[in-house]
Amino acid sequence: MLVLGFESSCDETGVALVQSEGTRLPRLLAHALHSQVRMHADYGGVVPELASRDHIRRALPLAETVLREAGRSVAEVDVVAYTRGPGLAGALLVGAGVACALGAALDKPVLGVHHLEGHLLSPFMGADPPEFPFVVLLVSGGHTQLMRVDGVGRYAMLGETIDDAAGEAFDKSAKLMGLGYPGGPALARLAEQGDAKAFALPRPLLHSGDLDFSFAGLKTAVLTQAKKLGETLPARSADLAASTQAAIVEVLVRKSLAALKESGLQRLVVAGGVGANRELRAQLDVACAKRRLRVHYPELALCTDNGAMIAMAAAMRMQAGVQQADKRYAFDVKPR
Ligand code: KG4
Ligand code: ZN
Repeated sequence: MLVLGFESSCDETGVALVQSEGTRLPRLLAHALHSQVRMHADYGGVVPELASRDHIRRALPLAETVLREAGRSVAEVDVVAYTRGPGLAGALLVGAGVACALGAALDKPVLGVHHLEGHLLSPFMGADPPEFPFVVLLVSGGHTQLMRVDGVGRYAMLGETIDDAAGEAFDKSAKLMGLGYPGGPALARLAEQGDAKAFALPRPLLHSGDLDFSFAGLKTAVLTQAKKLGETLPARSADLAASTQAAIVEVLVRKSLAALKESGLQRLVVAGGVGANRELRAQLDVACAKRRLRVHYPELALCTDNGAMIAMAAAMRMQAGVQQADKRYAFDVKPR
């Protein structure tokens, strides 16, 4: 079975082709991505209307690229998948519209998947796919969650953020420091030259005794610190970046370890854009090795938004029998 997947929830247009055979883990045949980062950079953030229009321009040419790279024709596609949500309504509607139109034209069924489930299952496309059950640390621009995962579609929330997401903490701190958009990767790069102990920033909810997160206070602390530095901020920005990253990473690592301990599971999966952070990966590697725990990550290129994870999640959901594609062409999206 060939699944063609479309991702268009925010500022990346992603398309991919995945092959699913019997009970074997579905395989990624090809994927293509167009990032709108440069288009939105002038505005300091994603402009929803511009995002939607660009998804319209990119979706079909990317699909053609993917099919060509995989050496397949569009007539061979068995199922068309798309991101149903969460995300920007207009952007999601483009992916849903393209997928449903393509499905109707080809007389093939379509299926909408949850963007976060795409992230969650993305490590299954890596060289070292995890086995169920595991704890997942899902850290993206909009979400920070710890979940127990017993199988495809079998997810139990263990803890989540009560305010900002980890990615937001990176992005907002970066903005305060004048690092532009998208701030996460820029702050992480700058942090490599800084001293992580230079500023004492709060580790919110570190000792709360539950698995919830809070990052809004950290952002305020960074702002206070930046104001205090005033004109000397540029000279100290690497130190402030390193200290901010250290605060976010420490909370993520400690809570992930607590989740593993509480659930009695031996395996951690990290997914979502912040999962690309090198310091987070380095610290988790050390902490897990020390405790004889396994940790799995998606390939770096598949950490942030992409079409491969959407095609993969659709294929895995169908294979597990938790969802089937249909020909209603419902064109439904769920922004929240
Ligand atoms: O999963 P994702 O691509 O999109 C959402 O579904 O939100 O995550 C994007 C988030 C942004 O907040 C971005 O700044 C952050 O992931 N991010 C990083 C890094 N790469 C992306 N944060 C810290 N370090 C990175 N290397
Ligand atoms: Zn995402």
